[in-house]
Amino acid sequence: MTSDRDTSTDDSSQLARRRLAWTRFWGQGPLHSLGTSFAGNYADAIGTFWQAEFAACGPRDSILDIGCGNGPLAKILIDLYPEEGPEWTGIDLSNPRPTWIAQLAESAAKRVQFRGGVLAEELPFEASSFDLVVSQFGIEYSDLARSQPEVMRVLKPSGRLALVVHHAQSLPVYVSRQELRHLEFLSRSDFLENAATMIPYFALLNDVEARARLQSDPQAAEARQRFDAAQGEIQKRVASEPIPDLLTAVQIFVQDCFRAAVSAGATPALDRLTGYRALLEDSRLRLEDLVRSALDEAGILALQERFKSAKGRAAHSSLNALSVNDQVFGWALRVS
Ligand SMILES: C[S@@+](CC[C@H](N)C(=O)[O-])C[C@H]1O[C@@H](n2cnc3c(N)ncnc32)[C@H](O)[C@@H]1O
Repeated sequence: MTSDRDTSTDDSSQLARRRLAWTRFWGQGPLHSLGTSFAGNYADAIGTFWQAEFAACGPRDSILDIGCGNGPLAKILIDLYPEEGPEWTGIDLSNPRPTWIAQLAESAAKRVQFRGGVLAEELPFEASSFDLVVSQFGIEYSDLARSQPEVMRVLKPSGRLALVVHHAQSLPVYVSRQELRHLEFLSRSDFLENAATMIPYFALLNDVEARARLQSDPQAAEARQRFDAAQGEIQKRVASEPIPDLLTAVQIFVQDCFRAAVSAGATPALDRLTGYRALLEDSRLRLEDLVRSALDEAGILALQERFKSAKGRAAHSSLNALSVNDQVFGWALRVS
């Protein structure tokens, strides 16, 4: 069973680091966090789940979205009720950057409110404020022992709860584990350090004389050898791994940096590489968060039980695994 994530033990620098990693991710503009699996907004079973949930709302309902990111659920809601309908408030630890809001008509935009820098464990709302609390791959990232009572506090007694939660045996968790292994491999290998050493040599290629000198420069030859060896190790791994996409993307990025060094010089190319390494470190944090937050069957049953008992004896609840293209994708939990 997966245990609650205890964010009370996150010291402030760790929390700030996670906030920054997610903020930088949302700042790159994705609508949701599983962009490699769903190019547009969620479709299939996950989209159907949310459409049914939102179709059951009254026109004046207020909805709270926990860990909302750039608002894929708000987008489904607004697509369903473009003119008038329920109001949506999203909270997130990070500061989302939902650029799609700018395209909305005023009547729709005013029904959507993002509140960045807000923890699920400390919701800044009065008791009984919301008719529906939703979360898609969000609430499980929080300390459930603290966020679950907060959710119940802000939910109206007649309110409903609908969650899509990471499933420990799902495709996103499997892919995340693979990518974490690749990131560990990269940090053990000297590939990116060797790439950085190569950049000043690439920057010389535009200068005919410097280029000629490079041919007989033993340091350049040694740097080249080390880079080729590290690249060879990566290629071996790419050939033997089921999902090598992250490694392939890193190789492509490094080749882009070499081209940038030739055309713009060493400094901007080195800056790009440094920025990219920071993004890889952000990815590592986000992937670790994802894998740690996923719930196995015992974990989701315990969460369901908690919400049901907080709701009282008359609570209705349903729980099932959602599949997309025959792959388990998450848990769908409803409590009303
Ligand atoms: C996997 S993303 C999901 C975002 C969005 N719901 C979606 O479906 O694309 C998880 C989000 O939860 C947020 N998060 C993590 N811990 C949180 C917490 N304790 N309170 C509020 N939000 C949190 C992260 O900042 C991140 O934006």
